[in-house]
Amino acid sequence: MADKDQIFSDRMLSLGLARVSEAAAIASARLIGQGDEKAADQAAVDAMRTQLDMLDISGVVVIGEGERDEAPMLYIGEEVGTGNGPGVDIALDPLEGTTLTAKDMPNALAVIAMGPRGSMLHAPDVYMDKLAIGPGYPEGIVSLDMTPTERIETLAKAKGCESSDIMVCVLERPRHEDLVAEIRACGARIRLITDGDVAGVIHCAEAAKTGIDMYMGAGGAPEGVLAASALKCMGGQIQGRLLFRNDDERGRALKAGIEDLDRIYTRDDMVTADVIFAATGVTDGSLVKGAQRDGDYLETETILMRSKTGSVRRLIYRQNNH
Ligand code: FBP
Repeated sequence: MADKDQIFSDRMLSLGLARVSEAAAIASARLIGQGDEKAADQAAVDAMRTQLDMLDISGVVVIGEGERDEAPMLYIGEEVGTGNGPGVDIALDPLEGTTLTAKDMPNALAVIAMGPRGSMLHAPDVYMDKLAIGPGYPEGIVSLDMTPTERIETLAKAKGCESSDIMVCVLERPRHEDLVAEIRACGARIRLITDGDVAGVIHCAEAAKTGIDMYMGAGGAPEGVLAASALKCMGGQIQGRLLFRNDDERGRALKAGIEDLDRIYTRDDMVTADVIFAATGVTDGSLVKGAQRDGDYLETETILMRSKTGSVRRLIYRQNNH
């Protein structure tokens, strides 16, 4: 049996995946607060690539640092791993929150997801309109085709509460001014975040803990696939529709094999098979703690999840700096 035809053993590979996100977080954490987004990102990319190449996989980067001509490493289509293992798709964001890291603001993460070959949407690097809610609601109860007001009223009814009890997470951007105004006009509350919508979406899966019931708004499409991977493990729904600002962006989508540019993707359209997901904190955040120095040690916290079992682990890793 050719290596790439081996069965995707999510259980065996999950700890390796945690090592990959740990390494990226540790590398970029050294640059927290130094005001250099590019250097922090590069450190995470280098570390992630080194660790990925130690895994016994025939991996292909499906969601990565960009097109081949714009990203020297971890570009879309790059092959990673030893080649001695199953064929897998990889979605990664070595540093989700470059600005957060450069400015030492909360919620920067190193993020990676892995599934069998052919299981992940090849989302181009354009914006995606996103809508997410947590588990426990009928499939499709809210949709991108509804107005923001309809989504909130529908969710409030299903939750058995008032619209004013619904907390919506939104990226703080000028493009969201109308969205924010409409959400407030219908009485719901808003948790504005400056960056990091992967964590923003994930928070919907633990509404009782995070207080966030719904995520809405436009962010990176690659981050949408990563968030869909996480929700596939934790439960919850996400819908995404690609947004194009010009012909170049439409061209990117066509090149990625996307034919219907207006399609609404559900979670399971974006990630069609069982997936594993790991995210390690770079700066302190609401999902995981940031990388901490403690004397000669460096400590990280990673959330590691498998969709097959719905298992969610939190791993503390300690590295001696000597
Ligand atoms: P980077 O770490 O690549 O800067 O991404 C951070 C982020 O906030 C994502 O979480 C989000 O999807 C995207 O940027 C939003 O893009 P923009 O900053 O252009 O609004």
